[in-house]
Amino acid sequence: MSRDAEAMTPNAMLTGLLAVALTTPVSTTARETPRINHSSAGDRAAEKAFVDALLAKMTLEEKLGQLNQPPGVGNHTGPEAMAGNEDQIRRGEIGSFFGTHGVELTCRLQKIAVEETRLGIPLIFAYDVIHGHRTVFPVPLAEAASFDAEEVRIAARHAAVEASAHGIHWVFAPMVDIARDPRWGRIVEGAGEDPYLGSVMAAARVRGFQGDDLAAVDTVLATAKHFVAYGAAEGGRDYNTAEISERTLHEVYLPPFKASVDAGAESIMAAFNDIAGVPMHAHRDLIEGLLREQWGWDGVLVSDYTGIMELMPHGVAANREDAGVLGINAGVDVDLVSRIYYEDLPAAVRAGRVSMEQIDASVRRMLNAKYRSGLFDDPYRYCKDPAREVALTLNPEQRAAARRMAQKSFVLLENDNATLPLSKSLRTLAVIGPLADHRQSMLGNWAVAGRQEDVVTPIEGLQAALGDGTRLIVARGSGVEDMDASGIAEAVRAAEQADAVVMFLGEHPDMSAEAHNRTSLDLPGVQEQLALAVAATGKPVVVVLLNGRPLSIGALQGKVGAVLEAWFPGVEGGNAIADVLFGDVNPSGKLPVTFPRNVGQVPTYYAHKATGRPPREEEKYTSKYIDVPWTPLYPFGHGLSYTTFGYDQLAVAQAKVPVGEPRQQVSVRVTNTGKRAGDEVVQLYVRDDFGSVARPVRQLRGFQRVSLQPGESRTVTFELGFDDLALLDAKLKSVVEPGTFTVFVGGDSDASLEAKFEVVAP
Ligand code: NOJ
Repeated sequence: MSRDAEAMTPNAMLTGLLAVALTTPVSTTARETPRINHSSAGDRAAEKAFVDALLAKMTLEEKLGQLNQPPGVGNHTGPEAMAGNEDQIRRGEIGSFFGTHGVELTCRLQKIAVEETRLGIPLIFAYDVIHGHRTVFPVPLAEAASFDAEEVRIAARHAAVEASAHGIHWVFAPMVDIARDPRWGRIVEGAGEDPYLGSVMAAARVRGFQGDDLAAVDTVLATAKHFVAYGAAEGGRDYNTAEISERTLHEVYLPPFKASVDAGAESIMAAFNDIAGVPMHAHRDLIEGLLREQWGWDGVLVSDYTGIMELMPHGVAANREDAGVLGINAGVDVDLVSRIYYEDLPAAVRAGRVSMEQIDASVRRMLNAKYRSGLFDDPYRYCKDPAREVALTLNPEQRAAARRMAQKSFVLLENDNATLPLSKSLRTLAVIGPLADHRQSMLGNWAVAGRQEDVVTPIEGLQAALGDGTRLIVARGSGVEDMDASGIAEAVRAAEQADAVVMFLGEHPDMSAEAHNRTSLDLPGVQEQLALAVAATGKPVVVVLLNGRPLSIGALQGKVGAVLEAWFPGVEGGNAIADVLFGDVNPSGKLPVTFPRNVGQVPTYYAHKATGRPPREEEKYTSKYIDVPWTPLYPFGHGLSYTTFGYDQLAVAQAKVPVGEPRQQVSVRVTNTGKRAGDEVVQLYVRDDFGSVARPVRQLRGFQRVSLQPGESRTVTFELGFDDLALLDAKLKSVVEPGTFTVFVGGDSDASLEAKFEVVAP
């Protein structure tokens, strides 16, 4: 640190500064940025004074450098990637990196920024920490299936602790896109189809990543992405246009972003899609208008990978400069990968196409983020402790949390004749299927820092649980996708020799996530044929599914004994699967997304509108199909247990509630009616029976996880308020309208126990 800089307090800077003109020649050697006192990191007035002072010293090029974020080496997922290099840092061209981690590397790059640039502004390192960092947790769709916000918060907390120990300050998560089309590969990255569940999970993840104190060394900035309606990609084809109504935008796709903002998310990433012809990277109304003006959000809006450049192929920008102008004027602060802001905005500013105020606003937000992360206090605080990096990588506590999260995320779809749990005293167990020892399928996609050698595979998990008393007979049977059925005979022979069979079927991780969309939801390759051939042996057959989207596995119903949806369960997946298969843990996950009977039903989701002709089996001219029932294979919220639960005594506290300040309390008694202890996710759905606009047939408005011993009962109470009963009227104003409401409570979205109350005008 230079002596001048050391002596300069933020106040002195404020009074003594000269704004630097665009053309002012600057020294490129002496670092001039002062450091702050850590204790002021939460003080917004101090932050403003500090950042204003710094901003006043910056040239346009230095400002635009702050908005330029290249990918780190080896992280290229787009068409025109550019790796940042050390000379670019030295020249002040780079404000942040993504995809770079590790204390050695981040410290080395940080040192260049701090010691060899004129202003010494620290770099900030971002990374795709989507479901854990090195300790890979279950994929986000699986975590949502836990319906356990606290466990999800804890998972994000562990990810933040581990990632920050690896020099990361900022994560590109949570992905909060609602997805109602399982063809879309990125359904695996979010919390599924429901805005309520999605909002709860979004807030939990933001809180987990950011903790209570952003400047603490184990917290990271969270990024809610992708703003907005990315999950509505037409045809389930990634990057495609989103053709949705304004109502759907506000009712379905925006709520998880609002929840993220309310939870304090410091960053939001723009989406690749357009809405009604306006690409999100140029959507001033939604970014500056809705996010910043209406919601009062002051965080960093980061582009997606080459998102600014893609304004050209979208057909709204004729050249790079146009694209940059559209992006910055829409309020997109950081240009990921394109380098358009850095290279093409100087000319646009000189030509008056972009104001300096607009640039300053974006730079200010970037500097705020660095300030809030404590980087002006100590730029090396996340990277200076190699011992911490080792101690906080894949340690027993992190592994235990990953195992617990996986256990809670599994959804028991079928369990005929109590096929599960299996006994641990089986003499022989056949283990069949292409994924029984597939390490990458435990990690799933977007496990960027994950390593295959960290994984406990299903076979390893089963073997560890069973010990030497049980012989495993392993047969692959088929590949995941190939159509070669020649291995089925061997698999059948293995099943015939065994007391029971566990099959590991599904998708490999590259069949979901970014750019991995499918037009079929069937089990790929000959896996269905394999399962049916094995089931025909008459042995008890359990299918464990490993996959990143709903699959149409109706052909297995009634043929195999049990189906456990295990998603992509993370490094501890094999152990967690064994825990559940042998009954050490009773499964309790619920589907965060509807499973269709076949791809032709898509989109199918529980919160659909009734239509003027609600489907009725006996009536031809109603809304349904002639070749399959209109109902799904498994409804949203479905999930069985090794015990059973009964619901009764549903009651609303008041028969009538006033329209002005509607408050209602709903209670229900839940009883464990089976023979094992278990957790039930009690779900509350609400229907506004008649409104000024057509409403969904029901909407999730609360859920609670309860643990009950056999025979034990518990009364569960839900509170309903304005937001739970409100609709958007024809002018998209949020109102509660007088009339009757129905509440439904139960263990899935088909819950039939119902009660009514009335909202009355004064
Ligand atoms: C593109 C993806 O859409 C986004 O989610 C991710 O954060 C960036 N690439 C960076 O890897």
